[in-house]
Amino acid sequence: MPGTKAVAYGGPGKVEIDCSVDAVGFEARGHGAEAGVERPATVLNTLMDLTRAGGAIGIPGLYVTRDPGAADPNAEEGSLSIRFGLGWARSHAFFTGQCPVMRYNRQLMMAILYVRVQIAKAVNATPIPLDAAPQGYRDFNKGVARKFVLVPHGLLASRTT
Ligand SMILES: NC(=O)c1ccc[n+]([C@@H]2O[C@H](COP(=O)([O-])OP(=O)(O)OC[C@H]3O[C@@H](n4cnc5c(N)ncnc54)[C@H](O)[C@@H]3O)[C@@H](O)[C@H]2O)c1
Repeated sequence: MPGTKAVAYGGPGKVEIDCSVDAVGFEARGHGAEAGVERPATVLNTLMDLTRAGGAIGIPGLYVTRDPGAADPNAEEGSLSIRFGLGWARSHAFFTGQCPVMRYNRQLMMAILYVRVQIAKAVNATPIPLDAAPQGYRDFNKGVARKFVLVPHGLLASRTT
């Protein structure tokens, strides 16, 4: 977060937020020297550190019961090193599970149809022609912060790269 600096729990000048959302899940990677390394608990631990006492943490990000490809044997069993005591001590409320997509479906659809939200911009979606699909998949695999929408028949010809 530009302009903010998180310090240890309870430290002076600590930045705190009312609510937070883990939209990453167990596939989280480390930062800095640990960039690219599997760190499945890092987002939850960071959010418990940054969310104020009595605050809420929403967790739509996926956590699994088994992750056979995981680097660490505990993570293979879906066990993560979560500092749950931190969340307990701060009386955080946790909300998680499958998102109730159908509940928001109609309002979102109408918001999109009436251009109240620009969904492609919000999720960084980029329409690409079929020929560009291999490069799109390669970029996606590298973790670019974009979503690609394949437009096989050129229906969005003026919008594709
Ligand atoms: N609960 C539900 O119903 C529901 C619905 C849709 C998606 N999901 C889950 O939500 C999660 C996100 O889905 P998505 O399609 O946006 O995935 P995505 O791969 O497009 O986005 C995940 C983002 O997290 C970033 N990231 C990785 N490590 C990070 C870290 N340590 N700190 C901050 N960011 C980090 C990645 O760079 C990537 O941009 C997935 O776990 C997915 O399964 C859940």
